[in-house]
Amino acid sequence: MFRKKTMKVICTEKSQILATSLAKALKTTVVDVKYSRFPDGEQYLITGELDDETIIVGSVVDNDSLVQLILLIDACDSSNIQLVLPYMGYARQDKRFRQGEPISARAVAHVLSRGVSEIITVNIHEKEVLNYFDVPARNISLAHDVGSYIKTLNLGNPLILAPDEGALTFAEHVASAGGWDFDYLEKTRLSGVEVKMAPKQLCAAARSVVIVDDIISTGGTISTASSMLYQQGAKDVFAACVHAVLTGGAYVHLMAAGIRSVICTDTIERGCSVISAAESIAAALKKC
Ligand code: R5P
Repeated sequence: MFRKKTMKVICTEKSQILATSLAKALKTTVVDVKYSRFPDGEQYLITGELDDETIIVGSVVDNDSLVQLILLIDACDSSNIQLVLPYMGYARQDKRFRQGEPISARAVAHVLSRGVSEIITVNIHEKEVLNYFDVPARNISLAHDVGSYIKTLNLGNPLILAPDEGALTFAEHVASAGGWDFDYLEKTRLSGVEVKMAPKQLCAAARSVVIVDDIISTGGTISTASSMLYQQGAKDVFAACVHAVLTGGAYVHLMAAGIRSVICTDTIERGCSVISAAESIAAALKKC
């Protein structure tokens, strides 16, 4: 007799909240996993009972998370695995910039492809990285989710700014949620030490501005831009991103630069994760 295939979600330690929201969106459950370490520091894990299909959710936020993903993929080898990488660390080293360097994105992609049938990434740094996986890989964008959240702030007619030209398409997609103006910040070098950042075409004076980017890492770019936008008369400056890496005290730097609030998703689980990627990932999984 035909039996409908059953599916469960399982996750690494640093993606528990997103995985739980995703399971809820898919009307299924999260498999319990016990994580521990051997006396020499090596990681160990043991999963609860699996079903026919397993959705593994794990952001590569650090090396431990990467190892947990590798171990989880192996532990779930009795089922068909779809791997969700909400944030893929190492993706920014997507080329050999200098002789002797690894293409880290490729190395990680190869390792994570083994044993899985499909991979879904979220706002991956460069789409070309998808080609490094050895199995079909798709990327989804949360730009519209970011835009929908900005709508709830009732900022009137905010100016959505990309920190550079490369992020302009992302800014455009965010802005489309509210039909807002968008532009990118142009950098002009004034001297050996002085740089000016200002919107390429529009004027920030008297406006609420939201600087949007895929990643906020050190927050350096946005902090500098924020200070300059206030000098140009901006009313309020907000920062929004998908992946809040927030390394080296970035959040504090952003606040010190006058950022009103940092808006981010739960691809990396943070106190400021006000947007969940769960519904968009669930929709992508249902489209398979
Ligand atoms: C760069 O290519 C990314 O899209 C971000 O613009 C970058 O990671 C932001 O870096 P930071 O927060 O350190 O200025």
